[in-house]
Amino acid sequence: MSEGSAEAQGDVLVTPDGSRTALNARFGEAYGSRHGAASQARHVFVEGTGTHEHPAPRVLEVGFGVGVNARATLARCAARGVPLVYHAFEFDPAPRALLRDVARGGEAEAHPAWRALLDAWPESGGGSGEIEVTAGGATLRVTFADVLTADLPGGWATALYLDGFSPSRNPDVWTPEFTARLAHTLAPGGVLGTYSAAGHVRRSLEAAGLRVDRRPGAPGKRECLRAIREMGSGQWAVEEGTP
Ligand SMILES: C[S@@+](CC[C@H](N)C(=O)[O-])C[C@H]1O[C@@H](n2cnc3c(N)ncnc32)[C@H](O)[C@@H]1O
Repeated sequence: MSEGSAEAQGDVLVTPDGSRTALNARFGEAYGSRHGAASQARHVFVEGTGTHEHPAPRVLEVGFGVGVNARATLARCAARGVPLVYHAFEFDPAPRALLRDVARGGEAEAHPAWRALLDAWPESGGGSGEIEVTAGGATLRVTFADVLTADLPGGWATALYLDGFSPSRNPDVWTPEFTARLAHTLAPGGVLGTYSAAGHVRRSLEAAGLRVDRRPGAPGKRECLRAIREMGSGQWAVEEGTP
C-alpha cells in the first residue's frame, strides 16, 4: 500500500475518509489503505465481490487484521436486513484494545455481533484456536491460524476477501498454489476481491480457473481485481457441500 495522508494517533491511523486503521509492525505496512480504510473495504471487498447485493452472503477472509472489512460488511448487511456468515483467518491477532480503537466512531461499532466478537477476542492478542459469535443476524468466526496450512471449506464462499498484505511484503498468500486453493473455497458464482492488480496475481487467478475482471481501484490505486467462479463451472463438484 502506498503512503497516503493518514494521520497517526498513537497506534491508530486516521485516514482521509475519517475511518481508521493501524500500522502492523511485523510487516511494516498499514492494515488498510492510508487513502481511506473504509472506502477500500467497501469498494474493493464489499462491492467488488457483490456482497452488497447478495441475499445471504458467506464471506471468507484472508487476514482479519483490525476488522475494518468485517465491520463494513456487517454494516451493509444490517442495513439491508440480510443474514451474514463471515469466516476470517488471522495468524497474528492484534490486541483487543487496538480493534476497539480502530472501530471507535466507525461503521457497525455498535452492532451486537461486533460487540460480542470484541468480548470474545483475546485481550492481549496472540493465541490460537477459534472464536465464533452470533448476534443481530450475523455469525462472525475468526480462526487464529496460518491460512496457508489451514483446512479451508470447499465450494462454500459467496465472497472471498484476499487481504493479506501486499505481494511484495507477504508473497506467500499470493502464490499460484495458494490461489488455486482459494479458488476451491468459492461457491459457484462466488467472487474473490483484492486490491492488488499485479500481473502475476491476475495470472494466478486465471490459472485457478477464475474469470478475472479489472476494476477501478479504491482511492490511491488505479485498479483492483475481482475474480469470479462462473456458475456453469463443474470442475470442483467433488468439494461441493464440504463443511
Ligand atoms: C492487510 S491486513 C488485513 C486487514 C483487514 N482485512 C482489516 O479489515 O483490517 C493483513 C492481515 O493478514 C494477516 N495474515 C498475513 N498472512 C497470513 C497468513 N498466512 N495466515 C493468516 N493471516 C495472515 C496479517 O497478520 C494481517 O492481520
